[in-house]
Amino acid sequence: MKARVFAPVNVALIKYWGKSDEKLRIPVNSNLSVCLEKLGTETTVEFKKHLKRDKVVINKKKVSGREKDRVVKHLDRVRKMADIDWKAEVISENNFPTGVGLSSSASGMAALSLGATKAAGLDLSEKDLSRLARLGSGSACRSMVDGWVEWVKGDSDKNSYAKSVFNKDHWDLKILVVVLSQKKKKISSSKGMAEAKTSEFFKTRIKGMENKLRKIKQAIKDKNFSLVGKIMENEALNMHAVMLTQRPSLIYWLPETVRVMKAVQDFREEGSECYFTVNTGQNVLVICEEKNEEKLVKKLKNINGVIEIRRDRIGRGARLFT
Ligand code: PMV
Repeated sequence: MKARVFAPVNVALIKYWGKSDEKLRIPVNSNLSVCLEKLGTETTVEFKKHLKRDKVVINKKKVSGREKDRVVKHLDRVRKMADIDWKAEVISENNFPTGVGLSSSASGMAALSLGATKAAGLDLSEKDLSRLARLGSGSACRSMVDGWVEWVKGDSDKNSYAKSVFNKDHWDLKILVVVLSQKKKKISSSKGMAEAKTSEFFKTRIKGMENKLRKIKQAIKDKNFSLVGKIMENEALNMHAVMLTQRPSLIYWLPETVRVMKAVQDFREEGSECYFTVNTGQNVLVICEEKNEEKLVKKLKNINGVIEIRRDRIGRGARLFT
């Protein structure tokens, strides 16, 4: 009863910030992301007959408290589905900095969902795996699926799930992960998101979401890079406008974050087309076409405060190692 899996980080172009159901993690708006090829979480889950308690090791450290509770709760969901009561040993490792706005909860929960169900002998459909991952961490449902992924908001546990809208080979865009600091954020996405509605801009944001999603899907289909980039960048700032004005206010950016955002806009003016997005953390994600990748990596590396650039591309969803 053992399985080893990999689940990728996903980067949202159209974000999820606000739930209509906290417990079931139903998002207020449908949203869209891409899975990365390289950045992600590798997890091994083993259910063992004589184990007294679940044991969870994340990034080589045995975890306890709230971090462990979240994993145990997810294992309980799987045990219930498989009708087993054995405890499990979970060993999980991220190949990127954790808790700095790079979606570690998404890849982590997606990997746990696939690993635990496989180890328990279950063989769930992609849709059901995505629904299960959603219960662990909303955006994790998107790491379950290949390429360009839409999380259809739905209105119940059954119909809120992620599906692939274009596969990873549809369009080979490059994603540059600009790592600025390893300092962990103080407020988690889950906690921050619960206050989204206290911003007076929240309703206005949500009103525009359907239209934005429709537009970006058409632009992706047409491979219109400028339009996809413009929608993505504006959407990130739109979400942060809500974060900045919710009560209490959330400022996830560091001075370096703003420096990179402005630099990206300058690079564009200088002819190297690229666009940014930022999640709940200080690090910045930049998309570009292959023809500008080398040049942009060099330029980004030269910005004061940049620790490293991770180069990635669009990849598959969670998978089992055989
Ligand atoms: O699924 P969570 O609780 O990690 O929330 C993710 C929230 C954002 O990263 C800010 C947006 C998104 O859609 O990924």
